[in-house]
Amino acid sequence: MMMKIILAPMEGLTDVYMRDILTAIASGHGYDWCVTEFIRITQHLLPSKIFYQYCPELLHNSQTAAGTPVHIQLLGSDPQLLAENAQFAVELGAPAIDLNFGCPAKSVNQHRGGAVLLQEPETLHQIVVAVRKAVPRHIPVSAKMRLGYNDRSLMLDNASAIESAGASWLTVHARTKADGYRPPAHWHELANIRQTVSLPVIANGDVDSLSSLAACVQQSQCQDVMIGRGAVSRPDLVGMIKNRQAELTWPQLVQWQLKFLENMHQAVVNPVVNEAYVKSTEKGALGRYKQWLAMLSQAWPQAQFLFEKVKRESSYPVIVSLLIESTQLV
Ligand SMILES: Cc1cc2nc3c(=O)[nH]c(=O)nc-3n(C[C@H](O)[C@H](O)[C@H](O)COP(=O)(O)O)c2cc1C
Repeated sequence: MMMKIILAPMEGLTDVYMRDILTAIASGHGYDWCVTEFIRITQHLLPSKIFYQYCPELLHNSQTAAGTPVHIQLLGSDPQLLAENAQFAVELGAPAIDLNFGCPAKSVNQHRGGAVLLQEPETLHQIVVAVRKAVPRHIPVSAKMRLGYNDRSLMLDNASAIESAGASWLTVHARTKADGYRPPAHWHELANIRQTVSLPVIANGDVDSLSSLAACVQQSQCQDVMIGRGAVSRPDLVGMIKNRQAELTWPQLVQWQLKFLENMHQAVVNPVVNEAYVKSTEKGALGRYKQWLAMLSQAWPQAQFLFEKVKRESSYPVIVSLLIESTQLV
């Protein structure tokens, strides 16, 4: 069976515009699904407006324009509250619910959300049980965790707690919260998790090339992989993995960047006022583009060159013309 590749949830990075462009670039056998940025559940049932803002795709059959499904990720610590919100997200059209047990942010952990819960396998279990019970059988409920909080001592307990609660699969970012994002990712630990549980385990962490993918699969013994930062800095990676496509040339990549800019620009000048209405500003949109351009610099020298030119530029038409001009550079 073909390996599954999933586009990772990344707050402030894989939003609706980035999901749209990355799944379009990867069309054909591209991403099997995407996951939204985490939606924090703290005190009450969120209004539909919030779900639509995080996931405007809910209004389009919960798929990106390229037809890739988008799963909703929730973050919180109260099983009942998470269950109610999960049920509502499914009523709004979510095809699957993912639960975040990996976020390392202080502000989130202080409120007992994200990776801090990896110290309490029983809480993970209760959350997954409650959410599983609240949504219809055919809707998958999955979890995403790190190897642990300070260390890996509860790694297998956490995986077992999630499995015995009825999760459909488990994604593991191969680091503890204490590891932050420091290389290396400890892929071999996923092989240990796989020996303990029998639910599907999706490997995650530091896959950004064909060679790191091969090493990850070999060491983790996982069949399926989630890609985060590498998906943004190498938007052609999934096509190379799944469709044996060639690397994107700079002029090809420029066309996608123009589309990304245009999509965000349209949302600023001509906002569609519906339930998914997200107020965007030109400055915000250009900031997001520059963030992507900086990440593209790792693989495309032209991006680095262009970034130097646009980093202080605040005019949309000027940035567009610099981008077009850059295709003349060798
Ligand atoms: C900017 C940023 C935001 C992130 N936001 C989320 C999030 O909202 N939910 C989540 O489960 N993981 C989040 N992550 C973690 C990623 O999904 C992923 O586990 C991590 O980046 C490792 O994978 P990678 O090396 O392929 O990027 C975030 C990571 C980054 C870099």
